[in-house]
Formats: sequence, structure tokens, C-alpha cells
Amino acid sequence: MSATPADASQGGSIDHVLTEDRLFPPSAEFTKNAVISTQDQYEQLYAAARDTPDDFWRDQANEHLHWFEPFSEVCQWEAPDAKWFVGGKTNACYNCVDAHVEAGRGDKTAIIWEGEPGDKRTLSYRELQTEVAKCAEAYQQLGVGLGDVVSIYMPMTPELAIAMLACARIGAIHSVIFAGFSAESIADRNNDASAKLMITSDGLNRRGKVLPLKQTVDEALDKSTTVEKCLVLRRTGGDDTPMTEGRDVWWHDVVDTQPGVLPATPLESETPLFILYTSGSTGKPKGILHTTAGYNLWARRTFEWVFDHRDDDIYWCTADCGWITGHSYIVYGPMTAGATCLMYEGAPNHPAEDRFWDLVEKYKVTILYTAPTAVRAFIKWGDEHVDKHDLSSLRLLGSVGEGINPEAWMWYHEKIGGGKCPIVDTWWQTETGGIMMSPLPGITPTKPGSCTKPLPGVIPKIVDEIGNEVDSEHGGKLCISQPWPGMLRGIWGDPKRFVDQYFSDVPGQYLTGDNARRDSDGYYWIMGRIDDVINVSGHRLSTIEVESALVSHPDVCEAAVVGRPDDLKGQAIAAFVTTTNREVNDEFLKELKQHVRKQIGALAQPDDIRFTSALPKTRSGKIMRRLLRDVAAGRELAGDTSTLEDLASIASLQEKD
Ligand code: WTA
Repeated sequence: MSATPADASQGGSIDHVLTEDRLFPPSAEFTKNAVISTQDQYEQLYAAARDTPDDFWRDQANEHLHWFEPFSEVCQWEAPDAKWFVGGKTNACYNCVDAHVEAGRGDKTAIIWEGEPGDKRTLSYRELQTEVAKCAEAYQQLGVGLGDVVSIYMPMTPELAIAMLACARIGAIHSVIFAGFSAESIADRNNDASAKLMITSDGLNRRGKVLPLKQTVDEALDKSTTVEKCLVLRRTGGDDTPMTEGRDVWWHDVVDTQPGVLPATPLESETPLFILYTSGSTGKPKGILHTTAGYNLWARRTFEWVFDHRDDDIYWCTADCGWITGHSYIVYGPMTAGATCLMYEGAPNHPAEDRFWDLVEKYKVTILYTAPTAVRAFIKWGDEHVDKHDLSSLRLLGSVGEGINPEAWMWYHEKIGGGKCPIVDTWWQTETGGIMMSPLPGITPTKPGSCTKPLPGVIPKIVDEIGNEVDSEHGGKLCISQPWPGMLRGIWGDPKRFVDQYFSDVPGQYLTGDNARRDSDGYYWIMGRIDDVINVSGHRLSTIEVESALVSHPDVCEAAVVGRPDDLKGQAIAAFVTTTNREVNDEFLKELKQHVRKQIGALAQPDDIRFTSALPKTRSGKIMRRLLRDVAAGRELAGDTSTLEDLASIASLQEKD
């Protein structure tokens, strides 16, 4: 095993992640104090979870969750339906908040928050308990109870976490919608989930500007048939927030005025905890459903294993609560573990490109969990922003959202981690509830670009087109062959899609949608999606979703959307469109981009739009996406194009390169 740290070169293109063979073992010093500190310990945990899962998870659940009533059965599994900890009663909010107060740790800081303008707030677990209880009391007053869906569209403020936890407290189901989505997207999600209550704020601070969230929500509520009330947090101030009488209420009027004493309701283990919409291979986002006990346990244990959590850590996950990473690793995982979490509201480059490093230094962050797309942006912005700050408090770094390319990995390791912090490259999905594969920082020698090995309870299989296990070095579809506590329990309102999407290719096994290979050391390398999902700055988007948005414009006839490599975002969105007779010019181009923003949100705005007289199709009428991907990437056209119906269209697309 040799470690040969190379210079992190700056700029240039992303090097290929699948050819990396450098190995970086954890330092002896890190290993000495690590929660899991020997290979044997991992092997034992892994073998126990694989071979005697009921015993393993029974012990884990009894030790790491609070039970109002004990469960009688560990797991009922009849693919695709899993029920964990059957017969037991627990409460995720209790586990996150009250349990620490009960155990005499109420004074420990739960949340350290900083707003983008620089305002600050800290909440101890005891203070959090009161705030969450007040919010839950307000929900009840607004007619929300067990099984009702609450849509949350908010900035990254403590109230966002409070609103989530307050749902869990009374068995309401939260559906957090990232505050970059459009009114259309909010309305679609509200209607699909039959949301009863919507929570938002007057505005959101982003790069020094105020975005009027409530206005967007008002537009969404015009089309949301089930929403009865809207709870509004005053965040940015100003007198111009539109409030609809009888429907809209202010947070400071209905939450802050409550007594804050409502206890957590004991809930059946499989009580729905939240829905989170994510993109799949069709145009319609799907509401991934997670339930209470299994998810809560998985979030907690994976957090403790992967982040080597200790009581004095200051942990910072830079994700937004609008994504699964925020759910599992800002709220449920770290809080059940009683961690102190930093939460930041704004952009990483406001007021300057050193904002993250300023926060790390100021709050003495010890564990930092961020995304490769952010790391690549930091590299581009230049080392001088990092050099201004003392980052010596850091002891562990994490990465999530997409594979981290070796160049970014090396820079993260050297520049941010000072060459001493292990990097945990965590592979998982909205559907998996928590991390599935990751180095364990005290014991796993890391290879840049590999998420290394599965966590206890995760049994991966690599299969071919027809579901047979294959020579894993070559690679194939990645499946998980045993249920795990954090797995999704369904797609909201669409049981057929749930089976078709995840449990049909290889009956009885969960199909991840990713390709992967396993090398001779047993390390896994994620090779990208097998479906039409693209990964833009770590955000999942369906190409078909963007196509549908484009064709909803009256002047667009047909659209094909593909991902193309991008140094910063990982993948950028390239669209090819055929139009009506309208003249093609910059104004039309702008209008189309704006149209997609309005339909889905800014994150889905195409980077390139190319106009063409026809899209290349096979004789059977299928759009040749592979070919368009090559055109979008500026590559020589690969493969056989003899089945093309319209070769002229390819020629004209290429001319525009
Ligand atoms: C990709 C985010 C490689 C993958 C937690 C997966 C990754 C999708 C990694 C899920 C990683 C996430 N290495 N690929 N470390 N992490 N992915 O649902 O394609 O937003 O299927 O969950 O992101 O995205 P999602």
C-alpha cells in the first residue's frame, strides 16, 4: 500500500474517476481515537448484519432509539414491502430532541445558526424542545394532525428544522420542497401529496438579495386544491408581504405565542415520517416515502459510523434541508446522535468567496460534509480565499451527491484537510434514506473517486441486463439484495411505479439506478446512472422533466435533453429543440430558458439550447440520445448512425458547435 499524494492541479478538465489507484490510509492518530478503529470491528459488524440481521437490528434499535412500546418483530419482508420494528412505538422528534433533555444533556448546543447577512442564533436541545413543541401546538390549532401532509418551502433557518421536527412530533408528514423550485413545481407536489398546510417565509436571502418566497407560494396556492392554511415566517422583513385573510397566518402570531409543552406522540414504527420528491426516469417527480423507526435508526447509525461522531464535535453539513442530505444529515441523523450542528442560510460566495472558511474558522468546525460541485467551485475561485483562514479545527471531511473526481479529491484533501483529514465519499440516494457505501474514516484506506465499501446491513450485487450477477470488475447494474431499515417504503400514491422502478429488473432486489463496478480490493466505483436521470451540481433531474417543460412552450414542437460533461457542475443541461415557424434569436433563447425556470425552477434551466430542423431518430422513432450526448459534448460522433432517419439534422447540429 503506497500513498503518493500528487499535486492538486488547478483548472483543466475532470480526470477520469475509474482509473485511480492511489491509496490513502487514515493516520494512526485518527485511528487511535476512532469509533470504529479496527478492520476486525467492521468485519464483525458487517457479518452480523448480513448473517443474523434480526439479532443485529434488534440490538441496534433497542440501544439507539427510545421506545414507548417495545417492538415484537424486527423485520417483515415480502419484496417490495418492508416493515421494520413491528408493534413498537417510538417518535423521531423525541429521539432527536426530548431524549437528550431527559438524559440531562438539555444544555448542549443543538444548532448553531448563521444567516447570510451575518445574524446568529444558537439553540440548546432544551430550547429546541420548546420551539418544536410550540410549532406542533400551532399545527394542531391549524387543524393539522396525524397523517396530514405539511409542505415546507423555506430558507435554511432554524425554523425549517423546527417545522420538520414538529411534524414528526405529532405524526404529520412533512414534504420539504427546495426553495429554488418554481410555483408550478410546488403546486404539483402539493396536489400529488394532498398537502393540508403550507409553510414558507416572506423572503429568502441569497447573495445579498431578497427573493420573495411568499409571492411564489401564493402563485402555487392558486393551483393547490388541498392546502387550507399557510404559515409564514418573517425572515427578511418589509411590509409588502401579501397575506390572504382566512388562509395565511404569521409564525410569530401562531407559533411564538404557544406554551411549548406538548409532548411527542408515541407512533407506530411504520408511521410515515416524510415524503421527499425526487426525479426519476419519467417527467413526473416521485414522492419518496420514508417511515419513522427504520429511517430514524438508519440515519443515526450511519451518521455515527461514517462521521465518527464524538460529543465535542462541531459538525457542518452544507446541504439544504430541501434535499435528502439535509433530512438525514442535518436533522435526523446528527440530532438523534445529540450532535452540535452548524447551519448556514446563504451562498458560499457571499459576501466573498471565503464565507465557508470564515464559518469553519469562527465556529471551529471539526467535521465538514459538502458536495464535489462546491469543491470544484472553491478550486476555481482560488486558494487565496482558503489561505486567509485557520482550518486546523477540521478532522474529517465528507463528500456526497456525485462521485468526487480525483482532482477535486486531492485539493479537498490537501488544501482543506491539510493532508491529515480522512475523506468519506458517501454513496447513497433519496430512496436509501441514508449512506449505503462509504469509507469508515478510522480504518478504510481511501482511493480518490471510490465510495469504497458497503456499511453494515448493505449487501450490494452487481448484475447484468437480465439480472445475473456479473464479473464485478467489468461493472453492471448496482442492486441491494437485502432490506435495510432506512429503505424507502413506497412512492406516494403510486404503488405500481414503486414496483416497476425498483423491484422489477431483479425480482426481490432493490435496483439503485446506478452502474457500478467492484475492483480487486472489493472497493466500489459508481459509474453513473442507467436511466435518464442527470446529476447537475449534485441535484437529480430527469431529462424528460426538462423536455416536458420545453415542449409546454407554444413555440416548441419537440425537445430532447441530455447531460454533457461540465467542469463545475459535473453535468450541464443541453437541450435540442425543434420549433414552429418562430424566428430563432437570442430573445427566443432567453425566453425558453426563462420558461423552464418558471416550469421547474432555476436549477433546471438548460445551459445550452440548440435549435434544429429535426431531431435524430431511429427508424422506430426513438430519439437517439447517445448521439445527442456526443454532439452536446463536442465529441466525434460515435457508433453506427445508419439507422438515422434524418442525417441532415445531425449535420446542422454539428455546424453550430
Ligand atoms: C449520485 C443524494 C457517486 C448517484 C444523496 C445516486 C453519487 C444519486 C454519490 C442520488 C457518490 C450520490 N458517488 N454518485 N458519492 N452520491 N450519487 O437522490 O447517481 O439526490 O443514484 O441523493 O446521486 O441522488 P439523490
